[in-house]
Amino acid sequence: MLATNLKILSVVLGTILFYTYLAGSIPQVESEVPAELDLSANVTAEELVAAGEELYAGGGGCLACHGTGTRAPNLLEPDGATGLIGERCGQRVEGMVCKEYLHASLIRPTDFVVPGFDPIMPDMSRTLSESQVWTLVAYLESLGGEVTVSSEDLAASAADPAGGATAGSAAPASTTMEPMALLEENQCLVCHQLGDQGAPIGPPFTDVGARRDVDFIRSKVLDPASVQPAEGYEALAGTMPTTFGTQLSAAQLEVIVQFLAEQR
Ligand code: HEC
Ligand code: HEC
Repeated sequence: MLATNLKILSVVLGTILFYTYLAGSIPQVESEVPAELDLSANVTAEELVAAGEELYAGGGGCLACHGTGTRAPNLLEPDGATGLIGERCGQRVEGMVCKEYLHASLIRPTDFVVPGFDPIMPDMSRTLSESQVWTLVAYLESLGGEVTVSSEDLAASAADPAGGATAGSAAPASTTMEPMALLEENQCLVCHQLGDQGAPIGPPFTDVGARRDVDFIRSKVLDPASVQPAEGYEALAGTMPTTFGTQLSAAQLEVIVQFLAEQR
């Protein structure tokens, strides 16, 4: 059993390291299908929860919004009378059980927007694999509720060769070379402002070329942690997704980098 646990954990960690590596290397690859959790190994609820917790606090980028108090609902504390996220998840949308609601929250965040908040949450199927999304659902269920995610949920999404791309509402990887379309598709404008578009979570794109050169911008998009955050944004380091290196083709990356460098 211990050996199995370690095996699964190492696959999960391997996947994360693999992305970190890819993000740091030259991005000329097509997005490769990420290594998935080992399904044959009867993944347990505890293993899913542990992997989800790690992703939540780390590479998933959730804390950028959910750790701040006002920007997004607190997922680790009770929300008034509706309780912890693992309790309130089943009461949010009539006819939706907890697991369905949490899964939808992650891949179709604008379907149901928690009252009092803006619809700024990114579609996580853009940056996370389906298995990773399921580990987050398991983790959130575990906060006050019963974990109902099982290896069957993961198997169902793994059986779908396109994985997260079709399971969610996200469009399949595109081939556009149009800078604005690329910024929209990759959800950059969920966190960055350009002109009167976008949201002011990260530094604005409007004058980014005046502050940063091509090499800096390329490094930031490929591996956000590899270059310093802009002044005033230090606390948000770690928010920007780390998967653009695998999401974008090399040519698309260059289109974005050149376009941003011209914004001054
Ligand atoms: C850019 C900010 C942002 C990021 C990043 C973000 N969220 Fe959210 N999230 C929100 C906001 C705002 C809401 C409330 C509005 C809504 O329902 O869309 C929300 C709602 C939710 C809800 C529903 C909460 C409830 O009480 O019903 C869940 C679950 C959730 N987020 C999970 C996550 C997880 C897990 C991650 C990381 C993988 C994440 N979010 C990343 C902003 C964000
Ligand atoms: C979930 C929010 C989020 C998304 C999505 C996001 N970013 Fe960011 N980005 C940030 C934050 C926060 C910072 C500032 C902290 C840092 O530098 O890590 C940042 C910093 C940057 C910077 C450095 C700006 C400067 O002045 O130093 C660039 C360039 C950038 N992002 C480009 C992009 C591009 C291109 C995309 C889409 C392919 C994107 N970002 C998607 C949150 C995001």
